[in-house]
Amino acid sequence: MKLKRRPAIIRIPKRRKPTAFIDGSALLREVATHARLAEGAEGVRRILRTVFVSRQIPIRNIAQQVGLPVPVVAAVRGELEKRGILTRKGGVSLSDEGLSVVQSELGFSCRKRFARPSAPPTPAVLDDVRERLAEIAADRPKVNVKLDQSHATPETVLKRAVYLYEHDALEGRNALILGDDDLTSVAVGLLAQHLEIALGQVVVLECDWRLIEFLNAVTQREGLSDIAVMARDLREDLPATLCGQMDVFVTDPPYTLPGLALFVSRGAAALAPEVGKQGFVSFGRRPPAETAQAMASLIQMGFAPVEIVPKFNEYVGAQVLGGVSQMIHLISTGKPQPLVTGTYRGALYTADCKRRRQSDRAPY
Ligand SMILES: C[S@@+](CC[C@H](N)C(=O)[O-])C[C@H]1O[C@@H](n2cnc3c(N)ncnc32)[C@H](O)[C@@H]1O
Repeated sequence: MKLKRRPAIIRIPKRRKPTAFIDGSALLREVATHARLAEGAEGVRRILRTVFVSRQIPIRNIAQQVGLPVPVVAAVRGELEKRGILTRKGGVSLSDEGLSVVQSELGFSCRKRFARPSAPPTPAVLDDVRERLAEIAADRPKVNVKLDQSHATPETVLKRAVYLYEHDALEGRNALILGDDDLTSVAVGLLAQHLEIALGQVVVLECDWRLIEFLNAVTQREGLSDIAVMARDLREDLPATLCGQMDVFVTDPPYTLPGLALFVSRGAAALAPEVGKQGFVSFGRRPPAETAQAMASLIQMGFAPVEIVPKFNEYVGAQVLGGVSQMIHLISTGKPQPLVTGTYRGALYTADCKRRRQSDRAPY
């Protein structure tokens, strides 16, 4: 595959600098340390978001919703009360100061100052976003099979955006999207716009110039100013400015084991080095031995696969994938450990791997 030689970062207007990261995590880290919470700062954030969404909620219900034992949630609540963030009016609720902190520091619905997120998005919102996505997708560049491209349907990318929203991967979150022929960034941007929630910095890394130009044009036209599109061949290391900065990565890698290992490695390098950061990986079903290899590589990189949703993604005419692939939701167990570092020179795409019979012998 030949990539056109151009500067690494293109046409990102000044207002889109990909380095302006939101850091609202000092309080969360402090509380997690004092409450000895194994889930870390992200666990504290989950508790706060549950309270934020519910306004007033019994502690038992928080425990059920976040999947933690009641005494553990009680310890976190105690630490948050000491800091004036939570109060006990008719169950657990945010103090006025707490509300202001979660909105300004954690990005919870900060565009609408006193509104709370409406979970799940209403059917009217979903219809609007679906319709707009379908119109946009109709004009996108045709697939380049040499890059293992195959377009997910607009319905699928909307589902992805909603899944991210439900898992607290959008509000105030810095997110990296590794390859985006599916237009996941556009779905995320449009959904956030409709829900009036503020994203953190969303960065797309892509090597196909047709897509980079298309995504730049669409994000500018639709006013999706939190999304920055950068030209990057993921066989090269991540730009240093992105390493360790992200809360979330999203990828639909080439449909090969080396493709999975490479793209997830770049996502792993981008995540902040702590427990609870999230990866969303779309990947087709493989035979049992390869599934075991794929899962082993994810675990080796320091991820817990916490949910696998079969047939989550549908593709327009993706024969190799049988038209569908699964969604693998990953949570980091600490500082992620990429399997691939530096420049990758091995086989990557389906055709290369078949030709070199390397997918069977891949080390990952
Ligand atoms: C790999 S394709 C997804 C394909 C789908 N999972 C399949 O295998 O049929 C996803 C995106 O990654 C991009 N991509 C492929 N190789 C890349 C590379 N070396 N660097 C950056 N992006 C790449 C593609 O252009 C596309 O937008």
